[in-house]
Amino acid sequence: MTEKDARRAIERVLFTKDDIAAKVRELASRIDVDYRGKDLVAVCVLNGAMIFFADLIRAMSVPAEVDSVCASSYGNGTRSCGTVTFGKDVGTDIRGRHVLLVEDIIDSGLTMAALTEELKKREPASVRVCALLDKPSRRVNGFTADYTGFEIPDEFVVGYGLDLGGKYRCLDSICVLAREKSE
Ligand code: PRP
Repeated sequence: MTEKDARRAIERVLFTKDDIAAKVRELASRIDVDYRGKDLVAVCVLNGAMIFFADLIRAMSVPAEVDSVCASSYGNGTRSCGTVTFGKDVGTDIRGRHVLLVEDIIDSGLTMAALTEELKKREPASVRVCALLDKPSRRVNGFTADYTGFEIPDEFVVGYGLDLGGKYRCLDSICVLAREKSE
């Protein structure tokens, strides 16, 4: 896909590069206050959060050990089976440590609910979630993130790590796709 093709598919920009940068700084400040003096492990939820994660951990002042996890609760279908499967597990021993999961978007809430449940079995001191985007209207459970960047309506968004079929992740803004491209 060329840059021109990507531009053509975009209906509108929801959050610009500057909007996102300001929100990342705001979230990092809140995290700094909450985790000052604590032993923190920041975990990137792959793949979608990779760009947000890279910006967030560099905006934070508190030192964190970093790790990543690739988790899915969807199996091969479009409905969650409720059980998380790891494409890549967290390698760090998190027992007794504070874990901050960094996610790009929370939709149904099933992935985060299953992942936090799984990590809690490893007896960390705490598990919290920081999500850049939240679609509360899509939630099928009561899951809420501890830190949320933007609440968004039920529209298909791409960019800044979010994809459609593996594309658009490299856009520096978060955009709504033209309807025919997102279906
Ligand atoms: C997306 C997103 C979350 C999950 C949210 O991941 O990154 O992990 O879906 O959906 P939920 O709240 O309904 O569980 P996706 O499976 O698209 O993989 P990706 O991160 O590699 O894009």
